[in-house]
Amino acid sequence: MEPRSLLAREWLGPVVALEAADRRATNDLRATLPPAIESEQDRYHGPFNRDSRREDFAVTAIKLDGKALAIQIQAEIADQVSRLKETRGIQPCLATVLVGEDPASQVYIRNKLAACERVGMISRHVTLPNTTTQAELLGALSELNADDSVHGILVQLPLPEQIDSMVVLDAIAPHKDVDAFHPHNVGLLSQGRPHFLPCTPHGVVQVLARHQITTAGKEVVIVGRSDIVGKPLALMLAQKDSHLGPEYANATVTLAHSRTANLADVTRRADILVAAIGKPEFIRGAMIKPSAVVIDVGINRIERGLVGDVHYAEACEVASAITPVPGGIGPLTVTMLLHNTLTAAS
Ligand code: GUN
Repeated sequence: MEPRSLLAREWLGPVVALEAADRRATNDLRATLPPAIESEQDRYHGPFNRDSRREDFAVTAIKLDGKALAIQIQAEIADQVSRLKETRGIQPCLATVLVGEDPASQVYIRNKLAACERVGMISRHVTLPNTTTQAELLGALSELNADDSVHGILVQLPLPEQIDSMVVLDAIAPHKDVDAFHPHNVGLLSQGRPHFLPCTPHGVVQVLARHQITTAGKEVVIVGRSDIVGKPLALMLAQKDSHLGPEYANATVTLAHSRTANLADVTRRADILVAAIGKPEFIRGAMIKPSAVVIDVGINRIERGLVGDVHYAEACEVASAITPVPGGIGPLTVTMLLHNTLTAAS
């Protein structure tokens, strides 16, 4: 990867270093991690691990470029896909199901199908009309469950109102549940022995880990308690260990939400603040502790374009590092879906 400027080189440092890292045959993304931060001293003196209790230095946030990271991880996945094909004759196949014509969902699906193609996976796309009944959708899923050439299944959400999403997600075979939404996979995650990690939370952990932003012992505040992001991310970060090692778990996690009292007081405690609330520019600069790391999971379309859940310009003046929108967590979510599909096929 070509460094684009001194600043880019600085923040790409750990990422670029990874390209030379040993990538032996595994679809465990742990293989490409930089060395863990070992001492208490390092924890607060690495590039993104400054002691956020100190407020005596000026801060301009460094951009955590999810798009660049996604390109790098997708290259790793592509290697593993071609090795799987060569050694075992298996080419991973992801089936996506879209019910209706929601424009945002169509874009998300197109991105997922294009990503499959980039890494050499097969994709199969099923489009059903907006009037599809629950029974019809369950019928389509039962065919995909029974089809041995399909390794992963994703039903794009939201579904039309005549369909109960919970019933549909429960009907996906757990070993093909690459979204990790099935209660079997949620249960394994909550016990600290996940088979699949949910894609967006895993993307958040990857962006932290690949910039050596450790979580152990830190205050992490997640705003938003959704089943897709907030809840599973809280579980992952509060565990004793993770697939990337204990430095990327063991956080003190607060899961804040719409009924949290004195929200700004809570968010200002965060060494790492994750916004996953679905409200455009909801997190303002004054809600962020100086030199905190800010992860923006939101993607909101407003008149002037796409914005996150964080007021980016204000946050940049307070935080030490921040994910942009677009080009932050979004590309990593798609990448982690590919990772899960590879796992399902392996
Ligand atoms: N809609 C918005 N995000 C997601 C996701 O992560 N998975 C699925 N299946 N649908 C979504």
